[in-house]
Amino acid sequence: MHRRIFVPGVLAAASLLLAIPASAAGYAPGAPGIGDPYYPYYGNGGYDVSHYDLRLTYRPATDELEGTATIEARTTQDLSSLDLDFLLDVSEVRVDGAKAAFAASGQHELVITPKAPLAKGTPVTLVIRYRGVPSTKSAYGFSTWHRTPDGAVAADEPESAWWWFPSNDHPLDKATYDVSVAVPDGTQAISNGTLQSTVSKLGWTRYNWRSAKPQATYLTTLAIGKFDVTTGTSEGGVPVVNAYSADLGDNDGAARASVERTGELVDWLSGYFGPYPFSSAGGYVPNTTTGFALETQTRVYYSPRQFANGSNTSVVVHELAHQWYGDSVSLKGWKDIWINEGFARYAQWLWSEHEGEGTTRELADYVYASHPADDAFWTVKPGDPGPDDQFDLAVYDRGALAIQALRDEIGDDAFFAVLKGWPREHAYGNASVDDFRAYAERVSGKSLTALFDTWLFQPSKPAAATAAPAAS
Ligand code: ARG
Ligand code: ZN
Repeated sequence: MHRRIFVPGVLAAASLLLAIPASAAGYAPGAPGIGDPYYPYYGNGGYDVSHYDLRLTYRPATDELEGTATIEARTTQDLSSLDLDFLLDVSEVRVDGAKAAFAASGQHELVITPKAPLAKGTPVTLVIRYRGVPSTKSAYGFSTWHRTPDGAVAADEPESAWWWFPSNDHPLDKATYDVSVAVPDGTQAISNGTLQSTVSKLGWTRYNWRSAKPQATYLTTLAIGKFDVTTGTSEGGVPVVNAYSADLGDNDGAARASVERTGELVDWLSGYFGPYPFSSAGGYVPNTTTGFALETQTRVYYSPRQFANGSNTSVVVHELAHQWYGDSVSLKGWKDIWINEGFARYAQWLWSEHEGEGTTRELADYVYASHPADDAFWTVKPGDPGPDDQFDLAVYDRGALAIQALRDEIGDDAFFAVLKGWPREHAYGNASVDDFRAYAERVSGKSLTALFDTWLFQPSKPAAATAAPAAS
């Protein structure tokens, strides 16, 4: 909106300069996607978020969520408008304090048009007031907001933020978080990082969580319900906070017997991956009915079903391994998922060996032998599986086989140096499969193009010879 007020002299010229060149000089809408070929509309263009401050209130009885997101960002291009990814109902948006126009667009875009365009390279504060019933929202026909008998859980991959906070929803734009959620007294809110404080008044308790290291949007989690919270510190000095739904039924004992070993397993993994990258660790087991677990940063999500057959330290090892491979070092694009899942699976193999339940070599041979050449398993390329097969078994198991093949090729000294060096090389950042190959080549002094091509990029079963153990 340009006010048409006549201002004589220099001021008039200046305001014309500000008003007219804005569109003429290359100010343009930010792209509705960050440029990931698997998910063209995930994330957005034109800005980079440094911090999310979410101040929310949740009513478990009705699934109503309301509050304010304050987003600290910096523009990366001259912007006439910008998008956030979001599904709930927005009532007001402010850009640097001034009310801005906004409109929903596409499956999950919130388009914000500030009064004045935003110049490249400037800090910007976005305030979004919103409310809604997340369980009534879907995009592409699905929802990742999981209601429970006493609350709800936001945890999924590659998307879960749209249902509860507006964001630049792609791992390329990591940020720090303050997540503050008020719930009725007697109910808890669990999120990432450390609990800074709880404040009770007027029948509500507000939980203030802080995640002070860069965190991808899909690794940001929220659980509301009645939980038993345990706290401790690992021998290695990592504070641990775990939470168990009061309603886990028969799975309660096995869940605790597994997740209570978080501190021990964090310390054990540090021996392979280097120092634990965050100031808190732990997991939570809500009373959900979905089957998966997810490496939500510092506070892993576990479905109770993970413990239906008894204790399951293997899944705890898997999700904790992701804290280094996936969370501290995040993928650049979703096609790089092998770095997350292959290494988390390989950590489970190392744990199996440690527990005397089969060595990495035996497990690799077993996986190789159990899928005949005509098995569809081999048609999935772990290095570029496509969005539909991103979490296919092959990304995990063939992915771990590829890691065993790498170990065979470069030898144990270089292999374990890579395993520990990679999380240091890219701590709190982003990296691709290509970056990983280049790093392993640098550390080992070997060209690995052919090996990576065979194990990660061919839609066929590699000849066994390629994985022959190095003579040693
Ligand atoms: N990264 C998760 C894991 O550690 C995969 C979760 C995929 N499942 C899902 N429903 N999104 O296995
Ligand atoms: Zn995983």
